[in-house]
Amino acid sequence: MRLAVARETREGETRVAVVPELVGKLTALGYEVVVEPGAGVGALASDEDYVAAGAVVDDQALETADLVAAVQPLDPHAVRRLRRGTTTVSFLPAGQELALVVDLRDAGVTSLAMELVPRISRAQSMDALSSQSLVSGYRCAIVAAGLLRRFFPLNMTAAGTVQPAEVVVLGAGVAGLQAIATAKRLGAVVRAYDVRAAAAEEIRSVGAKAIELDLPTLDGSGGYAREMTEERAALQRDLLAPFVAAADALITTAAVPGRQAPLLVTAAMVEQMKPGSVVVDLAADSGGNVEGVVAGEVVRIGNAQVWGGRNVPSQMPGPASKLYAQNVVNIVTLLTRDVGDGLRLAPDFDDEIVAGACVTHDGRILHEPTRLALEGDPT
Ligand code: NAI
Repeated sequence: MRLAVARETREGETRVAVVPELVGKLTALGYEVVVEPGAGVGALASDEDYVAAGAVVDDQALETADLVAAVQPLDPHAVRRLRRGTTTVSFLPAGQELALVVDLRDAGVTSLAMELVPRISRAQSMDALSSQSLVSGYRCAIVAAGLLRRFFPLNMTAAGTVQPAEVVVLGAGVAGLQAIATAKRLGAVVRAYDVRAAAAEEIRSVGAKAIELDLPTLDGSGGYAREMTEERAALQRDLLAPFVAAADALITTAAVPGRQAPLLVTAAMVEQMKPGSVVVDLAADSGGNVEGVVAGEVVRIGNAQVWGGRNVPSQMPGPASKLYAQNVVNIVTLLTRDVGDGLRLAPDFDDEIVAGACVTHDGRILHEPTRLALEGDPT
């Protein structure tokens, strides 16, 4: 069995799906690990590192693979290089990549999307959304501290007292909680808000003060938030405006699965912030929580520098790749079973995790929302 490690081709992607340290786990499962030349360069893993770990470096890795591991969805050219029946494991936002899903279906590829792995306890070790959110949450607190031209912590010195920075975090999921914990470790005073009922307790558990608004909570399915009505969104913005105005650093991480990021902060709210304040919007890639944000850039709105995150995990490619690779190894372990003649790549489509993550298989689209978007409902 050959497992190919793809060289990422999307602009700005520096991660790699399998790091040299984890090659041994895949060979122990019976895979020959074949790495495209230069696949690990962005994450500081050289071809020699892979060879030393027991992998083979080969430009034809995709053509001969049974299984391909990648971070980003393969590009159409790479899909054409696969044999029918090859399995791919990568992020694959199927609803936004409909043409690619058609290519994968028509190429007879079994494609598994990391973001579709169900968030059940058994799948926690495969949860790449969480592992990458951990990286981006940490990173955005560090970016905020780096942009802010003042201390995060309280300093009491003979020369006088320096007050700590006030940080406000909106959205307290995996990334937001990590941003809170990181800003707290740096000594800032942190306040945070999230629409989910459980969030206030989670915010307090990482040391921040929960902002309590007189609004109903918005819990959707699977532990996620629901979308707001425009009326509630406007009310929420009004109630949050004084907290935003008082912040030295505002970090926003709010998302609703399958939707554009909610607009939590208008440009007018940012204009009320103090001179020197900073805004870090982790949701910039999906439309932004802050009006006027530009992904991948720092723009000025009023007195504030507004930083728009773009593929933030790629800014820490080493740890992000290592965590992602561990998720990949765990899902590959699930796909590799002894069905009577030793360990084989044999996905069990009755398994909740495999069924949940599978987008295409055997010339069909199995992910129902994507199938309906492309093929419609025959009934
Ligand atoms: P996410 O990336 O989809 O969203 C980030 C955060 O934004 C969420 O906490 C959400 O409630 C919040 N948000 C959405 N709309 C908002 C608004 N209008 N104002 C303020 N905040 C808003 O979520 P993420 O980080 O992927 O996880 C969210 C939850 O999913 C977790 O807290 C947990 O309950 C659940 N989860 C479960 C896991 C498991 O069971 N294995 C693993 C990870 C998360």
